[in-house]
Amino acid sequence: MKEIKAIIFDLDGVITDTAEYHYLAWKQLGEELGIPFDRTFNEQLKGVSRMESLERILAYGNKSNVYTMEEKEQFAEKKNEMYKQLIQKITPKDLLPGIENFMREIKENGIKIGLASASKNAFTVIERLGVGHYFDTIVDAATVKNSKPDPEVFLKAADQLNVPYENCVGVEDAQAGVEAIKRAGMFAVGVGNAEQLARADLVVSCTSDLKLDDIKRAFSEN
Ligand code: BG6
Ligand code: MG
Repeated sequence: MKEIKAIIFDLDGVITDTAEYHYLAWKQLGEELGIPFDRTFNEQLKGVSRMESLERILAYGNKSNVYTMEEKEQFAEKKNEMYKQLIQKITPKDLLPGIENFMREIKENGIKIGLASASKNAFTVIERLGVGHYFDTIVDAATVKNSKPDPEVFLKAADQLNVPYENCVGVEDAQAGVEAIKRAGMFAVGVGNAEQLARADLVVSCTSDLKLDDIKRAFSEN
């Protein structure tokens, strides 16, 4: 029977609620550029790299060709400064409900843990949360060329863990992330809205519903 040998987590929106901070910072920048947007549009930004997120916001406001590359880099930098202010406040209390118990359970079952994040701020956030010791490997945006929905970040995490892709489970809150896991040939667990994450093999509505036994069962039936 096929066995789970590694569980690879997304960071923002799965381990902690930084997805909300990304949203707030982009929303502020969007308003400054005269491109207001809501949470429904924001679903398309989740899991997507910084520059690609900016491009999507500009396209949404029909401003794709209005700014120079230099201006775009300044906008992205401005958003990142706002985001960095917000994550300064993070403490271990900001771990999403049940996440630490889930990671402990995974370890006790001899399953490896990886992180596959599209963020260049991933190490800072993990450090502030105090959970670095749970991870057997961490892959962040600084070390991959192609961002989600490209599978590269998940493939690289599995390679570093030395686990075949078919024995990996990926956990994601973003459409682009679930797509990346599926393209990597892994079992996808979505955290959030079942309609939005319809490509996932299993969806739970919140992190406190992440239970290893349920995932093992769904994985073996897959
Ligand atoms: C992902 C987030 O984890 O990281 C995206 O889901 C974000 O919203 C992306 O744009 C890049 O993050 P950063 O910190 O490098 O700007
Ligand atoms: Mg996410």
